[in-house]
This record gives sequence, C-alpha cells and structure tokens, in this order.
Amino acid sequence: MDIRIEPAPEAQRRGKPTDESKLVFGNTFSDHMFRLDYREPQGWVDARVAPYQNITLDPAAMVLHYGQGIFEGMKAYRCRDGRIHLFRPFQNFERMNRSATRLCMPTIDVNDQLAALETLLRVDHGWIPHSMGSSLYIRPTMIASEPHIGVRPAKEYIYYIITGPVGAYYAEGFSPVSIYVSDEFVRAVRGGVGEAKTMGNYAASLFAAEVAKKKGFTQVLWLDGIERKYIEEVGTMNIFFRIGDTLVTPPLTGSILPGITRDSVLTLAKKWGMDVQERLIDIQECVDAIQSGTMTEIFGSGTAAVISPVGSISYKDKKYTVRDGGVGDLARRLHDEIVGIQYGEKEDVFGWVHEVKI
Ligand code: COI
Repeated sequence: MDIRIEPAPEAQRRGKPTDESKLVFGNTFSDHMFRLDYREPQGWVDARVAPYQNITLDPAAMVLHYGQGIFEGMKAYRCRDGRIHLFRPFQNFERMNRSATRLCMPTIDVNDQLAALETLLRVDHGWIPHSMGSSLYIRPTMIASEPHIGVRPAKEYIYYIITGPVGAYYAEGFSPVSIYVSDEFVRAVRGGVGEAKTMGNYAASLFAAEVAKKKGFTQVLWLDGIERKYIEEVGTMNIFFRIGDTLVTPPLTGSILPGITRDSVLTLAKKWGMDVQERLIDIQECVDAIQSGTMTEIFGSGTAAVISPVGSISYKDKKYTVRDGGVGDLARRLHDEIVGIQYGEKEDVFGWVHEVKI
C-alpha cells in the first residue's frame, strides 16, 4: 500500500499537553490522522496521512442511518529507552476485520492496517507521552459513507485512524471501581452483534450507564439477554472473578467482546499455574461467593482500562463489597506484568510487543 503524507502546516498544529499527570482520557487528539477510502469496483484507494480534520459526510451517509460503523482501541507506549511499542497489534486488526465481516463491511489486510498505523506514528510520535501509565491511545475506525437510504450494506466506506495522548481511563485510576448490575437492560444477545466492536453496542449501553452513574456507580455489569442471570462483561472491560484459587471469566459465547487484554490475563494466569476457567457464572453464585468470603477479587480488563479492580458490586439494590474493597494481589500482579511488558520493563516471553521503528 502506497501512503501519501500531507504534513499539517505549522500554524495548524496544536500544542501538546505539558502536564502528563493531568491527561484525561479521550479529550486530546494529535496533529495527523490516517485515511483510506473504499469504493466499488476499485476497493481501498488513496491511503494518506493528513492533518487531523473534519470528515465531510452526505446527510444520507449510511452510517448515520443504519449504524454500519466499527472501531478498535489500541495504545502506543514510549519505553524508558525511547523505543515505541504496540501491544499485540495484529489481534486488534484481525478483530477489526471480524467486526467488518459481521457488519457486511470490507476488510483490510492486517499488514496494511499496521503499515498505516506505523506511518501515522512516525509522523506524530512526538505525541506519545513519556511517563509510564500514559500512552497514545489509537482509534482505528471504519464507517459507511455511501449516500443511500435503502437498507443494505453500503458500497462506500472510510477507514481512518486518529490518536491522542491519554492517562487512566477511570477517574479512580488503579483504585477499585464500584459496579452496578443491570437486570433491567441488556447490552447484547447471543446471535447478535455483541462480539463485534460496533458503535451500536456502545449506544445500547448508554442509558443503563447513566442510570448507574446517577446512583453513584462507575460502570454497568451486564447480564445475559435471555435469562438475565449469567454475567457477561462491563461494556468497556471484560470481567474476572477470583474464587478460591480459581480464576473465572465468562466464555466467548458471541455476546461479549473477545478482549485482547482478556486473552493476555488468561495466558499469564495459566503460566503462573492458576486454575483458569472460562465458564458461565451466574450473578447469584457471584453474590454467594462474596458473602461467604471465597470471592477474593473481582477485576476488569481492557485496552483503555488495562486492569481495573472492582471494589463492590450492587445487585437488586444491595451492595456487596469484595473482601475489604481494596486492590487484590492478583489484579496488581497482572497489572504490573502487563504494563511492564507494554513498556519494555519486563521480559516479553510471548512475543506480544511490536516495536515501531521511528
Ligand atoms: C478500549 O478498551 O480501548 C475500548 O475500546 C473501550 C472503550 C474506551 C470504548
């Protein structure tokens, strides 16, 4: 893939944040973006890195009507010695293609997606924060741009990548979050699009998230859409339970996102000799285990959140505090190991890290 570079004029460049400790997730964007257009019969054309700018869409663009839109979440990390790392990038690009296929959108060769991202990072590497814990968040996105109002897959698409420096996803940082179990609303059902990273899944989550927020909770823990009893995910994270010496997480049955951090947690826990189970876990089992004291930790995993300890869950108007509500030792060990690998501080035995040569 040939990629043209159109540098942003000096006058158009924005100032980079000066205090990395104050970075808020999702507010700041770097100077450039990558863009690629799809039209039939040519396919993907006109790859370029251009100044960060508005995208012009016809009011009939199909993404605005029928929601054909997908995205990914990734990060670039600056190591202490200046190297730039990505974490398991092919996993993200392969998931992007699986989401595309599920939404009847065209796929893009994973090597081309990586080349696009690396070219963008070579132009905007100055935006990658320097402190451990901060990173450059990367948002590959694909939208249906064809102006058409009949319901069918679009014939024109835009793929773009934007980036921006970020700190912790939750205001709590690595402190435990409180989670609200929704038994009224559901996020996805088996056979639906829950396992695709499509925009509609996030739209579907907003109302319950607002209800939870008004009640003082950080996030919603979703139950399955049919029996409303099996735990699914947290919407921005996959969820893990440490019950006795076993690590339990819901299986990938089609309605939850197959998280890359989730897979990394499972791989590390197995390597550390833990009993790991991907199985259905019902909310009553979870509550009983918290009450009996056998549930020693709950934590979430995700690209944005990394590992996020869960201090309490609230179900049917009752709050259940996990052990002492503090950070568990497994969550801390997993966090330190994953972050250590991402920033090149710990040995990368699984070959997860991809170095971007600037
Ligand atoms: C991520 O973890 O990168 C996500 O995409 C979740 C969220 C910020 C939408």
